[in-house]
Amino acid sequence: MASQGIQATEVATPPPLWHSLLTNGGFVTDDIWTIQRLRDWTCAYLDKHGSLTPRLDTDLLLGEVLKLPRLQLLLRLEQLVLKDELAAFKALVKRRAAREPVAYILGRRAFYDLEVRVDARVLVPRPETESLVDAVLLFLKEPTAPEGAVLDLCTGSGAIALAIAKALQARQAERPVLATDVSAPALEVARQNAALLTLPVQFAQGDLWAALPADQRFAVIASNPPYVQHDTIATLEPDVRAWEPHLALDGGADGLDILRQIAAHAARRLVPGGLLAVELGSPAQGRALVELLTAAGLPGGKVEPVTEGPTSLVLARAPT
Ligand SMILES: C[S@@+](CC[C@H](N)C(=O)[O-])C[C@H]1O[C@@H](n2cnc3c(N)ncnc32)[C@H](O)[C@@H]1O
Repeated sequence: MASQGIQATEVATPPPLWHSLLTNGGFVTDDIWTIQRLRDWTCAYLDKHGSLTPRLDTDLLLGEVLKLPRLQLLLRLEQLVLKDELAAFKALVKRRAAREPVAYILGRRAFYDLEVRVDARVLVPRPETESLVDAVLLFLKEPTAPEGAVLDLCTGSGAIALAIAKALQARQAERPVLATDVSAPALEVARQNAALLTLPVQFAQGDLWAALPADQRFAVIASNPPYVQHDTIATLEPDVRAWEPHLALDGGADGLDILRQIAAHAARRLVPGGLLAVELGSPAQGRALVELLTAAGLPGGKVEPVTEGPTSLVLARAPT
């Protein structure tokens, strides 16, 4: 799970002018609204409502309504925005001002070289999770990488499994990709993504290892599991705590509940020379997982900080 380190803030009370503009219909007036004026107004409005990325949010929402990529918005700053477009935009801005993630409003999120559908049934895939995919794909390129399937444990939207499946397809590498989650609604989203992207991922529902046949082993086990300490969830940004599924965040009292269960069985679920790659929070949490893995028969794990991200990666290889 990613970006759970975002600091908690209060939603700012909007100044009366902005508030009335958005709520009493003043937003759609006979005034002339150019793209530039609307961008500036909305950026200030979303900033006041606590968005940490108000300019980007504005451009993504405006681009959605005007059907223009961001660059085109910037090239057309003097273009007039029509009344119907303003009304449609207003509805999206109100949702964002209530701190709904932009990805849920748009119903999609870019991840790796894919675009995945997302809604409130799944965590929004984070950019830092792309480092996990990079680590897996690098490992699978090694000539010594063992034969066998790739598992994405706790798949959510399916983003990790789908990105890996797409890269394997491009390399013409024959290797099954499986993905599991305990949440049936999340798996509906993941299955839909696989169908839309026509990528061959097999899905199974269940509580961690229980989703899989008892004797099944993998060349790679990748996971971005829930790892936030239970009490910390209430302090996260409203975008996360009020909108994203707590099942995707909650790692129990010390954040290690799911990591303990992953560690307990990882060694016997990997083929010789296989890789376990787990995304988690702080380097300290990473060190805790390495200790758990060592105690459970998978020594030699390494903690790697993720560049420009609040997360870490733990990589551990099964002995050959
Ligand atoms: C942090 S999200 C990660 C989603 C996705 N892999 C990503 O990186 O965007 C964790 C996922 O773990 C799932 N999950 C939580 N507890 C689980 C369990 N006991 N067994 C399997 N999946 C679980 C949640 O439903 C959620 O989809």
